[in-house]
This record gives sequence, C-alpha cells and structure tokens, in this order.
Amino acid sequence: MPDIIEKIKYLKKQKNAVILAHCYQPVEIDKVADYVGDSLYLSQIASKTDADIIVFAGVYFMAQTAKLLSPSKKVLLPQIEAGCRMSDMLSLDQLKEFVSKHPSIPAVCYVNSTAEVKAECDICCTSSNAVNIVKSLGKSKVLFVPDTYLGKWVEKQLGNVEVITYPGFCPTHLQIRPNDVENARKKYPKSLILAHPECHMSVSSIVDFVGSTSEIMKFVKTSKEKSFVIATEQGVVDRLKRDFPNKEIIPIKNNIICPNMKMTSLEDILYVLETEENEIIVNKETAKRAVNCLDRMLEASK
Ligand code: 13P
Ligand code: SF4
Repeated sequence: MPDIIEKIKYLKKQKNAVILAHCYQPVEIDKVADYVGDSLYLSQIASKTDADIIVFAGVYFMAQTAKLLSPSKKVLLPQIEAGCRMSDMLSLDQLKEFVSKHPSIPAVCYVNSTAEVKAECDICCTSSNAVNIVKSLGKSKVLFVPDTYLGKWVEKQLGNVEVITYPGFCPTHLQIRPNDVENARKKYPKSLILAHPECHMSVSSIVDFVGSTSEIMKFVKTSKEKSFVIATEQGVVDRLKRDFPNKEIIPIKNNIICPNMKMTSLEDILYVLETEENEIIVNKETAKRAVNCLDRMLEASK
C-alpha cells in the first residue's frame, strides 16, 4: 500500500496532476487526494485549478462537470464504468418531453445529470445550493430535474415556489425509510439525526437536520452535541468517524452504499495517472451550452 501511494504522489508531481475525491469514495482514496468534499466544493476547485490533469475520484457526471469547467485540462475518471443511477434516469429525450409539458417555466438541473441535460436547462445546482439557486430565479414555478426528492425538499424550504419535479431519485438514499429514523430515535434518544436531501421526503421531514455532504460534516464539527445518527452514504460515516474520534457517529442502517462510488481503487488511480486513459471528452456544441448552465450556478453561489 505505501508503495502505491508513493507512486501516485510521484506521478502527480511529475505530471502536474491534481486528485479530487468525493466524500462517498472509499476512505483510503483520501490518502492521495488533494481535495475531498461534496459536489459543489469539487466543482469550484475544478473551475479554478491550474493543474494540467484532473483525476476525478467520483462518478462520471462529476468528471464530466470538471471537464466542462476546465476545458483545457485533461480530466481522467479512474473507473470509466462508474455512473450515477439517478443521472441515468434522465435522457435528453425524456428531458425534452418533460419540458414540453410545462412550457415557459425555467428548468433547474441537479448537477447529477449528463452534459446533454445541462445544455438544455437554465441553471444547475448541487444539494448545498439548491434552495438559493431556485430562489435566485425569482419565479413562482420552476421545473426541477432529475431528483424529485431534492426538488420537493427545496419547495418545502421556500414555501412560495411551486417546484415541478421529474420523477428521478437516488436508489442509495431511498433505502433509508421513515421506520429507520423511528428506530434510531428509540435506540439513540440523545443523538441528533442528520440526513441528505436526496432521501425520501418522509425521511427528511422527520430528522433534526437536512444538508448536503459538506453541510452534514460541518454540522457535526461545529455542534456541541456528541452523538449523531447519519442518514446518507457510508463514506460520510467513515470520514466523520475518522475526523471526530471523540464524537459518536452512528450509521442509520448498514450498507447505505453507492456501488458506483465504491468502484474506485488506488490501483485505478495509479493506472490512469500512468496511462492517461479514461479521458473525458465532451462534444463542443453541447459543452458550450452546458457550461453556461454551470457558470450561472457558480456565479450565484459566490
Ligand atoms: P453532494 O455531494 O452535493 O452532497 O451530493 C451527494 C451525491 O449523491 C453525489 O452524487
Ligand atoms: Fe448517484 Fe445516488 Fe450514487 Fe450519488 S449516491 S452518485 S446520486 S446513485
């Protein structure tokens, strides 16, 4: 293991590469990562880096987003098969059909979507800025794709905007059910329960805090409380346990795992750094329009 870590670090330096890792990645990936965080943070880093190569330890749409934001950089995805099951639920044709049923309403797309979908939408968002992005449009109705639960959660937070959602979802977060929250309340009455907004509304409406990956981590860091039940992907649980050994971190249930996020290994990272295979390429016309959608989000999130 130390050998492979040393090789990755050597190649990173030699090739002026940077490694970005999402918090749902296997926790050992952090040993070689330059930046670890949620989708918004990593997009912001990708848009600013002066590295020549970005290795994105994450899933396809994340690496594609990095390429859109840094078109002159070589972006490599360690496991080219690592997709996002939510993003796969919305093709360009499905988006067009959905939009045509609701003419003249602006469309907001969650970053968990393809470049083709982003190219057709008005503005992008991540789970940490979704409420502010929808609010920034100043409209009474918006379309939201592909995550119906994030969209409905935004609607509930704002109270004065109708959010018309496409019926996509995250199969990993939907494994968490309201009775898991009720059981955790009984078993750990002194703990706070924190959930990701990709969870079903019947879950997010009964927990103590709802936030993106980084927001959950920040909540644990800054809270005076000592015990937390975590209702999101296992990678967040693993990192919280590592970073806050004096706090009690309890997963809401076992095996809340995104299989695509867990495909990446240190060997894959070394392989793409050596060979520069698995490069992400985006069609120029699509990229031109998709980047506008992302730039509007980054501008609104400053
Ligand atoms: P965030 O990184 O915005 O918390 O999103 C979680 C997720 O499911 C990424 O695919
Ligand atoms: Fe997609 Fe869900 Fe996995 Fe995130 S956790 S990459 S939304 S399938």
